[in-house]
Amino acid sequence: MMKFVLIGSGTGSNAEAILNAWKAGSLGNATPVAILSDKPNARILTLGEQFGVPALYLDPGPYKTKLTKEAEELYVNTIRSTGADLVVLAGFMRVIHDDFLKAFPRRIINLHPSLLPSFKGLHAIEQALHYGVKYAGCTVHFVTGELDGGPIIEQAVVRVEEDDTVESFTAKVHRAEHKLLPQVIALLAAEFHA
Ligand code: GRF
Repeated sequence: MMKFVLIGSGTGSNAEAILNAWKAGSLGNATPVAILSDKPNARILTLGEQFGVPALYLDPGPYKTKLTKEAEELYVNTIRSTGADLVVLAGFMRVIHDDFLKAFPRRIINLHPSLLPSFKGLHAIEQALHYGVKYAGCTVHFVTGELDGGPIIEQAVVRVEEDDTVESFTAKVHRAEHKLLPQVIALLAAEFHA
């Protein structure tokens, strides 16, 4: 069994897609063991009860875009206590630093709504549309110290149509994300040897 933890800050639509895939039996031997959030009222935490997975708010400390050293320790210790083999960042809006990364080498993956290495950082979908690209999409990659850097595992391409708006195109990218991330987790589970 490959145990994984989901971490997010927001809506949790990707976490929901993953949990639905798990319930449908399409994640292979991957099993969610916890949902963690840095936002006490994030919708992602409500998925816990719905799917029967423990969900916890973990205080990130006072910074906006990163965790304090103490908070990193709290996250690392909590993840360790679940026995997780994989950490899945699904809309986690903070940069992860050294101690956290070192605790789970090549075991933290992130979802980003662009075809990396293009359009890193915030508002990636808007960035791509404003640039005028004809193809955009989403990426799942291993997390390293570089923001939205790290080895790419898989990508999905979405074509920009003439009449797409930010809203319509965002919806298309989200649909692609909801397929891609569960597929990658299933792939990693198939390759996983404890
Ligand atoms: C996704 O678009 C993901 O690519 C980005 O944050 C968003 C999270 O959405 N990192 P949700 O919370 O899964 O609905």
